[in-house]
Amino acid sequence: MNSGPGDAQLPLIYLNNAATSWPKPAVVLKEVAQCLRHPFYEPGRTTGDGAADYPATARDALAEFFHAGPPEHVIFTQNATDALNLLIHGFVKKTRTPFHAITTDLEHNSVLRPLTALERDGAVRLSVVPFTDFRVDLPAIKKTICEDTRLIVMTHGSNVLGSVQDIRPIAEYLHANDIFFIVDGAQTAGNIPVDLSDIPVGAYVFTGHKALFGIPGIGGFFITEPDAIAITRQGGTGTDSRVPGQPSEMPMRFEAGTPNYPGIASLLAGLRFITSIGQDTIMRKNAALTRGLVHALQKIPGITIYNENPDLPVVSFNIAGIDNHKAGFILARAYNVITRTGFHCAPLVHERIDDGEGCIRASLSCLNTLDDCRTAVDAIREVAESAGSPVRPD
Ligand SMILES: Cc1ncc(COP(=O)(O)O)c(C=O)c1O
Repeated sequence: MNSGPGDAQLPLIYLNNAATSWPKPAVVLKEVAQCLRHPFYEPGRTTGDGAADYPATARDALAEFFHAGPPEHVIFTQNATDALNLLIHGFVKKTRTPFHAITTDLEHNSVLRPLTALERDGAVRLSVVPFTDFRVDLPAIKKTICEDTRLIVMTHGSNVLGSVQDIRPIAEYLHANDIFFIVDGAQTAGNIPVDLSDIPVGAYVFTGHKALFGIPGIGGFFITEPDAIAITRQGGTGTDSRVPGQPSEMPMRFEAGTPNYPGIASLLAGLRFITSIGQDTIMRKNAALTRGLVHALQKIPGITIYNENPDLPVVSFNIAGIDNHKAGFILARAYNVITRTGFHCAPLVHERIDDGEGCIRASLSCLNTLDDCRTAVDAIREVAESAGSPVRPD
C-alpha cells in the first residue's frame, strides 16, 4: 500500500482540514478504541456489559454544544451530504405539490445536486441567489421569495471563501413567513461558536469529520420541526418491532438500522476536545494562523488570493503560470504539503471568482502550527518562482 502522498523524509504539512480534519486528537483515537473494546450498548435489544450508550450521550453533548434541544431532535447520519439529502427529499415528499425553493451560489454540491435533481423531476422550481462580498444576506433572499416559496437551503460557511453567513435575521424572517430553512453547517460546526437557542432554523446540518474532529462516516442534523420532513427510511430501531410502520418517536423516526457506534464515539470525544480547549480559543488560534498565512502569501509575486479576509480558516488562491492541479500535485509530491485543488464541490463559486478554473485551497485546523504555515509558504514560493511568475510591479 502507498504509505502517503509525498516525500516521507519531509514532515507532513496537512492543510486540507476543510475536507476532513487531520490529525485527529489523541482523545478521539482513544475513545474509538475504547468503544470497540466492548459490545455495543443497544437499548431495547440487549445491553452490552460495560458498554457506554454512545448515541444517547453524544446526542446530549451535541444538544448542549449547539444550545439546541431537546436532544432527541439531534439525528445521526453518515455525513452532512446524507443529512442534507434526508432533509431536502423528506421536505419535498411531505409537501407533495410542486413549490419554489431557493438556494445560493455559495453552495456545495451536497445542496446543489439534490435540489437540481428535484428541479429536473419537476418537484421544485429553483432560484439561486448570487453572493455579494462573499455573502448572501436577507435583502437578497427577500427579493427572490415568491408566494409559493416553501424551502431555503443555504450554507452557513463557504468551503471556498471561508465567509460565514449571518443566519439569524434570515432564520427569523423565514420562520415568521413559514418557509423551512435548512442550514448547512458542515464548515462552521466546530470552527465557530454556533448557538441555536434563539435562531429559529428549521434544521441545522453538521458533519463529524471536519472541525468537530470525529472520524469519517458520522454527521447529522438538529431539527426543530420533525413533522415538516417525511419519513423516507424504514428499518429496525429496536423498538415497536411488531408495528409495521417506522416509529414516529424521535430520534427513531429518522434513524433506522445499526448506528455508527465508533463514529458517534469519535464525535463525542471531538466535542469534549473542543470544549476542553474552548471554542473561542480555537477560533482565535485559527484566525491568527489564517491571517499569518494570508499575509505571507500576499508577499509572493504571482499569487492571487481570492479571499483575503476569511471568517473561517480557509485560504483560496492560484499561482500565475501553473495550473492549480499541477501546483497542488507538486506541493504534495515534492514538499509533503497537502492542500486541495480544483472545484471543491462548489462549482458556482468558481464561476464567480476564478473564471471556472478552480483554485488551490489551504485549510487549517487548531492543530496546525505557525511552523506548518511557514513551511507551506516556503514551498508555495518555490513553486511560484519555478512557474516563472511575473514579478509584481511596486
Ligand atoms: C459546505 C459543505 N457542505 C457539505 C459538505 C459535505 O460534507 P460531508 O463530507 O460530511 O458529506 C462539505 C464538505 O466538503 C462542505 O464543505
